[in-house]
Amino acid sequence: MKVLVATEKPFAAAAVEGIRKEIEGAGHELALLEKYTDKQQLLDAVADADALIVRSDKVTAEVLDAASKLQIVVRAGAGYDNIDCEAAKAKGVVAENTPGQNSNAVAELVFGMLVFGVRNFYNGKAGTELMGKRLGILAFGNVGRNVARIAKGFGMEVSAYDAFCPKEAIEAAGVKAVDAQEDLFKECDIVSLHIPATPETRQSINAALVGKMKKGAILVNTARKEVINEPELLQLMQERTDIKYLTDIMPDMDADFRQLEGRYFSTPKKMGAQTAEANTNAGIAAARQINAYFADGCTKYQVNK
Ligand code: 3PG
Repeated sequence: MKVLVATEKPFAAAAVEGIRKEIEGAGHELALLEKYTDKQQLLDAVADADALIVRSDKVTAEVLDAASKLQIVVRAGAGYDNIDCEAAKAKGVVAENTPGQNSNAVAELVFGMLVFGVRNFYNGKAGTELMGKRLGILAFGNVGRNVARIAKGFGMEVSAYDAFCPKEAIEAAGVKAVDAQEDLFKECDIVSLHIPATPETRQSINAALVGKMKKGAILVNTARKEVINEPELLQLMQERTDIKYLTDIMPDMDADFRQLEGRYFSTPKKMGAQTAEANTNAGIAAARQINAYFADGCTKYQVNK
């Protein structure tokens, strides 16, 4: 079987070697398409692939149509909003993700951005500390749980809300579970977003919610830009000059947000999961899932059933 790794933002070299070992060790062939700049390169590369490993690369109906032999696509990572799962299902292509494999890396970046934020982007002026502040975690999945763990090391108070996770499970992790999403925004000094981009969450982080935050609040986003209502957040931040927005996913309205000097920071390219460890964990997990699918038809991590 031919397994294509198509990554516009490549894995660390160690991760590629790990994937190669797994795929070739199982008797399959590995093909690499890294740092491609044109959709056509992807369309050409998938033509004879039986399996596909991607990161945030867009696997659209067009890509799936071009991949006539494709049986399985694995998103090496958590969020699979980049895969047209319905189109894949219609073509009988199994779509999977690798949950949890890169979550520590993303969680660590949250705190990298937070320290940078509370210390005024290292401009030399006195900032504040994280200890004693209340952090609100929106969605208590793999990343959210790692964020809670690290927050406690900083001496922070931690609250969480998750529409799909029972309150008891949140409390069992030593975190205060709030009843509603808006309570998190009302009660916390900092809110960290860990919701996936779905039809329900798209643009759900709006002025009504963020406007409920306390004076000096910080919103940190290592999830998806799509969950933010950008025009509303921008307008709110123009009115509420105490709010900061730190994001690992550059907004479409980046140029406008940049006018909010000292209160807005975006990484140039999403880098939450961009560590050797996360790449290796997620890449090898993806390769093993593909091997298991071809060996035994295993679809444990299928997201388009
Ligand atoms: C994920 O959903 O796993 C993260 O957002 C990482 O995405 P990336 O593989 O594009 O860095």
